[in-house]
Amino acid sequence: MRLFTTIAGLRSAIDRQRQDRTIGLFPTMGALHSGHSLAIERAVKENDIVVVSIFVNPLQFGPNEDLDQYPRQLETDCQLCERLGVKLVFAPTTAELYEHKPTVAVVPPTQMISVLCGQFRAGHFEGVATIVTKLLNIVQPTTAYFGEKDAQQLAIVRRLIADLNIPVEIKAIPIVREASGLAYSSRNQYLTPEEKQRALILSRSLQEAQKFFESGVRDALELIGIVKQKLTRESQVKVQYVELVHPDTLKPLEKIEEVGLLAIACFVGSTRLIDNVILRSRAPIIAIDGPAGAGKSTVTRRIARNLDLLYLDTGAMYRAVTWLVMGSEISLSDEPTIAELVSKAKIELIPDDSWEFPTSVKINGEDVTRAIRSPQVTANVSAIAAMVSVRQQLVKQQQRWGDRGGVVVEGRDIGTNVFPDAELKIYLTASVGERAKRRAKEFKDTQQQEIDIEQLKKEIQQRDDRDSKRQIAPLKKASDAIEINTDGLTIEEVVQQVISLYEQKFSSKT
Ligand code: PAJ
Repeated sequence: MRLFTTIAGLRSAIDRQRQDRTIGLFPTMGALHSGHSLAIERAVKENDIVVVSIFVNPLQFGPNEDLDQYPRQLETDCQLCERLGVKLVFAPTTAELYEHKPTVAVVPPTQMISVLCGQFRAGHFEGVATIVTKLLNIVQPTTAYFGEKDAQQLAIVRRLIADLNIPVEIKAIPIVREASGLAYSSRNQYLTPEEKQRALILSRSLQEAQKFFESGVRDALELIGIVKQKLTRESQVKVQYVELVHPDTLKPLEKIEEVGLLAIACFVGSTRLIDNVILRSRAPIIAIDGPAGAGKSTVTRRIARNLDLLYLDTGAMYRAVTWLVMGSEISLSDEPTIAELVSKAKIELIPDDSWEFPTSVKINGEDVTRAIRSPQVTANVSAIAAMVSVRQQLVKQQQRWGDRGGVVVEGRDIGTNVFPDAELKIYLTASVGERAKRRAKEFKDTQQQEIDIEQLKKEIQQRDDRDSKRQIAPLKKASDAIEINTDGLTIEEVVQQVISLYEQKFSSKT
């Protein structure tokens, strides 16, 4: 691990290593704790090079806030980063980052900074937006990580990169809590043991609201009331706000339709703490990942039919785009023109009663359900799906379908990348030998020919290796996925296993 304190040093180190490596950035203010560690571990797992920045940003502290007191422990932070496999730590001075005074600032939309913490911390989110923009420009990462603990910050950062067209993917880290329920925060260091005990009321009040939400309460005033009532039982805790907003737009909600962010800020003694919970009432998403040939697509179709979910056929989307490209004058290697075409295309997936095609597909109004299964499309679809620009746009569309929930999706990175918050994640595998046997049987049934099993095994192994090392959408098992090894199981048995997992998880809620 190397520590840099200047932009020049860090940039030079990154430039030497960049080539086509993926770079993960995790911006922090130091005093690293288990919440930070989780983000670092994820970044290390998902990227070739990880940069952790440690900088207590004066621009985001108000005049009466804790800038001077904020805990600083660079040495132990660096040791932790080293242990976790971080390659580069960036810990600049204020003078290094803010050369000119006043600096050019990034100002998020008023509507996003006039709610929640924004009402009480004038200038805070302008400070955050400015430093985050600077760090993204300095490091130019592939992916940057932000915690859901600071849900307003996360929403503003997502909006910032969208509105300023910064080419980075933002990934959210779920809130990491102590066993007691208290969310980890660098500011917990300020709490006395008694205050720490009192602070538990924050997470408990949110849990209480979540319980009511799960039993059907959707009304904002009622949910806010439940939290406030619980918080006021702890007389030494002073409530600053309890609000319910949409987690992306931060618009106040009267009622939760699909999703709401219930967020609170309280003073425990003189320490200000925040916490939140996302309340989601969408129909569940089932994400099924796994290596090629494990039976994903057949299983997924049947699950969709059995559970009456939309089979979000992502493969069909890539096929539809391929069909569109092939019907135009565009060369299959002209990615920029293809990117333009995809950007303007309208793809529709419509559930259908047919067994053969459970989802009909339209592109720009034309029904291509059958046309996209032609051998020509099959021959070219992998080249189109390997284009970063195409994949980014289609993943965004898939995620929009996911907003409403009620979908089942299969692929290689659905549970890790497309729907990291899917309610049920399955990782479907089968041994190389079993997959070779199945393929040989299929070949015999359709082509009436024998095939060399050993050769097949070699090919399958090679494909697995390729798929897990791909630059784009590598095959990955999500840490919270349930693995089903389908060796020796019939398709129907696999389907039943997934359905029973689904029922165990949701029967009490549906
Ligand atoms: P800091 O408070 O150090 O947090 C760094 C990142 O860690 C943030 O994205 C935050 O949301 C995340 N984080 C903190 N506590 C967490 C927890 N208990 N569980 C999960 N994630 C957690 O947030 C900042 O610094 C600054 O505003 C920064 C973005 C670095 C800009 O200065």
